[in-house]
Amino acid sequence: MSIPVLTIDGPSGAGKGTVSRAIAMQLGWGYLDSGSIYRSLAIASNQQEIDITDVAKVVRVAESMLLKFECAAELNVKLNGKDITSELSTETTGNTASIIAAYPEVRAVLLQKQKDFRQAPGLVADGRDMGTVVFADAEKKVFLTASAEERGKRRYKQLIEKGINANLAQLTEEIEVRDQRDRERTSAPLKQAEDALYIDSSELSIEQVIQEVLDWVRFL
Ligand code: C5P
Repeated sequence: MSIPVLTIDGPSGAGKGTVSRAIAMQLGWGYLDSGSIYRSLAIASNQQEIDITDVAKVVRVAESMLLKFECAAELNVKLNGKDITSELSTETTGNTASIIAAYPEVRAVLLQKQKDFRQAPGLVADGRDMGTVVFADAEKKVFLTASAEERGKRRYKQLIEKGINANLAQLTEEIEVRDQRDRERTSAPLKQAEDALYIDSSELSIEQVIQEVLDWVRFL
């Protein structure tokens, strides 16, 4: 029998990370934050000062980067031995990640790195194409979204709490641009898998979303 996977896809700021981590803890499963892989590649490309419109160069960086994830209370990531956790959540990193994530060649290189996270007793995987591409055979899929306004507010709060400077109006606009890019790209665009449970969390607390997903997962 294959190792069970729960996929949670959706646009940025919908609460996927918080919900996925809490559910992974409750189920005693591993957790994959696939966005952090694209974000790490953005940081690596930036460190090596390559032109990110040069796909071949981005692919080379992707092939050679060495990532180490440690999931404690927060996710800690080491890139080629150096801690990059604090750089991961900036908007610049997110925007660069979304540009390079549109290259099919880059996605192909990162595919196996993501599949390798599927280990017993199970995995909660969050991203944009977890249920449609990477773990298309998962039997438990969720598509979690919220209004752009609400997602902007949540992102703002998250950044401020981390001590990162942010501007709400600018943030909401950036989120919308990034979502549009993620939805409209031809390679693994952000979309709901046909067999995914749709949750709009605009009017829900994070606890309510966690409960709804857990009830549904246990029902299956
Ligand atoms: O989820 P997060 O905001 O960390 O993702 C950063 C960017 O990485 C997204 O905007 C998206 O372009 C890309 N991404 C992706 N596929 C995933 C996860 C993230 O293309 N599975």
